[in-house]
Amino acid sequence: MNQDVILITGASGQLGIVLTEKLQEKYGIANVIATDLRCNTEFKGQFEILDVTDFDAIKTIVLKYQVTQIYHMAAILSAKGEGSPLSTWDINMSTFFNVLEVSRLNQVNKVFFPSSIAVFGDNIQRENTPQSPNLTPTTVYGISKAAGENWANYYYKKYGLDVRSLRYPGVIGYQSLPGGGTTDYAVDIFHKAVNNEAYECFLNATTMLPMIYMEDAIRATIELMDVPKEKITIRTSYNIAGMSFNPKQLALSIEKSYPNFQMTYQPDFRQDIANSWPMSIDDSQAKNDWNWQPKYNLELMTADMLKNLENKYNSNPITI
Ligand code: SER
Repeated sequence: MNQDVILITGASGQLGIVLTEKLQEKYGIANVIATDLRCNTEFKGQFEILDVTDFDAIKTIVLKYQVTQIYHMAAILSAKGEGSPLSTWDINMSTFFNVLEVSRLNQVNKVFFPSSIAVFGDNIQRENTPQSPNLTPTTVYGISKAAGENWANYYYKKYGLDVRSLRYPGVIGYQSLPGGGTTDYAVDIFHKAVNNEAYECFLNATTMLPMIYMEDAIRATIELMDVPKEKITIRTSYNIAGMSFNPKQLALSIEKSYPNFQMTYQPDFRQDIANSWPMSIDDSQAKNDWNWQPKYNLELMTADMLKNLENKYNSNPITI
């Protein structure tokens, strides 16, 4: 078998940074091409500045490195996207179309497309949300992800392009900072806690949302991309779940290590977004098809986040 060469878009983003490292470990540093609009200064490995709205620029990189797989992580997230709905739609869709078309025309044989719990909207069953309810997303980000899922399925059916996708819950990790999401409180809170600062939460205390620890999210991504093609029965996007909790439960979990931690609540427009999303997810199809199994629950995730952020701040103070 020929060596796979991996291209990652959005490699300086919350998931992209961690995914790039894992893919470098798996495929070798020379076989992973990280791309983004900006370079992350601590980055080690092959990096190209890439604006994914530019079809020719992606094509040039794909041909230059003979790329065989693309992980398309670049996107504008739910909360940020509401600030400029039409340009969010434009960016999220045009970048994905470029990736699909460049892949189809240049022998890229696998594409990963991250979808999201934001595809769900009003009128869903909010507990244990099933794989295939009516998708009526309430944010432009969610609309673009729901459309993207259908385009993924279309390219698979029409052209045989092997596009694979997961609906990520809110992703929590210590390695990178999120940008512009509705679930991001669950990352910000840890940075405040380890610095002995109070946190003002933009969601109310009882807003239950599905979340996943970074380690599980990245492992799910790589496991899905490794599964033999015939095992994949969902060509739109798989539901995956890690854990579910609300801000109050997360604060209590942090208080076990930081008894003086204080949290106040000041819900803003993100509350309405969160209210339209699932509280928990039915991921039985991922479990059945490719043996998906999360490892981290609230307690394990909290302990690991605190330990790693304490180390990080002790060795290299950063501010948010
Ligand atoms: N974490 C994302 C967001 O909040 C959901 O996919 O926008």
